[in-house]
Amino acid sequence: MFAPRIQRRMFSASTRNLSKVTVLGAAGGIGQPLSLLLKMNPRVTELALYDIRGGPGVAADISHVNTKSTVKGYNPTPTGLAQALKGSDIILIPAGVPRKPGMTRDDLFNTNASIVRDLAKAAAEAAPEANLLIIANPVNSTVPICAEVYKARGVYNPKRLFGVTTLDVVRASRFVSEIKGTDPKDEEITVVGGHSGVTIVPLFSQSKHPDLSANAELVNRVQFGGDEVVKAKDGAGSATLSMAMAGARMADSLLRASQGEKGVVEPTFVDSPLYKDQGIDFFSSRVELGPNGVEKILPVGEVDAHEQKLLEACFGDLKKNIEKGVAFVAANP
Ligand code: NAI
Repeated sequence: MFAPRIQRRMFSASTRNLSKVTVLGAAGGIGQPLSLLLKMNPRVTELALYDIRGGPGVAADISHVNTKSTVKGYNPTPTGLAQALKGSDIILIPAGVPRKPGMTRDDLFNTNASIVRDLAKAAAEAAPEANLLIIANPVNSTVPICAEVYKARGVYNPKRLFGVTTLDVVRASRFVSEIKGTDPKDEEITVVGGHSGVTIVPLFSQSKHPDLSANAELVNRVQFGGDEVVKAKDGAGSATLSMAMAGARMADSLLRASQGEKGVVEPTFVDSPLYKDQGIDFFSSRVELGPNGVEKILPVGEVDAHEQKLLEACFGDLKKNIEKGVAFVAANP
């Protein structure tokens, strides 16, 4: 009898919290469906959609969806970007070019590094305390780029910077469910490391199906799942719809945690102590989220011999990718 009323009260209390979410690159393949999903989220009260072209059009369209949040689009006018960012709690960056067949994520570096650096500069100035969620690839390098930009301005808070690796766990749980004939919602697969090729390390030994860690084909599919989409789209880009879902999930997890929900855990690429002794300053592992962003970085846990090999292969590439991002900002501040 009382439970529904209590639940209702808790729900309305949490939805009264104001949350401004900004999407930079909102008119792109990821940006549009991501913005739509954010409009559907009752925890979002204000949505700011910025792009170098098309932000206001996407905003006008999405603003007709009959949920309560307000939506505004911004162009790169002298104050457009700063206005989109001002007062933001969560900033998502899917701005940048996607892969074409045959490209690795690192091949995007030359174009995307400066796009992300410039957007990070604007965010560091207009909303230095917001959670910054980086989707633009190569995530292994663009996240360190943002850290350097924030450090140079004295506003770096490692608890507020996240590389979005959610799509890797989304894919892993779906691929496993296809093999095992289960519901993907029951398949929680931990994926650690980075977000490209061999730096993506699924830990099936920690799942309900430890046998799968010996399934090289499945491991490879999780590491290179993005390539399937790039190939199928045949030059028209990379994952956008599944990525939008994964980005919206990550944003929702942060909002839930910031509104007081306990035990919200997402895998994400953060400034991490786990392998700093090996010179790896950023690493994706399961992270408990809280009102201050990163609440607790959970350890990788036990891995089997197959996974130990994958981890060793990950470290080399990941370290280079991180160093490349740091060096880029040093040379091009
Ligand atoms: P897209 O080309 O469809 O959209 C990119 C958007 O960014 C465009 O609307 C463009 O106008 C905008 N843009 C470019 N420069 C900008 C700037 N300086 N400021 C604001 N907006 C700017 O590309 P798509 O498919 O949306 O991919 C975006 C990025 O996300 C790519 O780097 C891609 O590799 C990455 N990605 C990341 C994934 C992940 O798991 N983290 C998964 C899939 C893609």
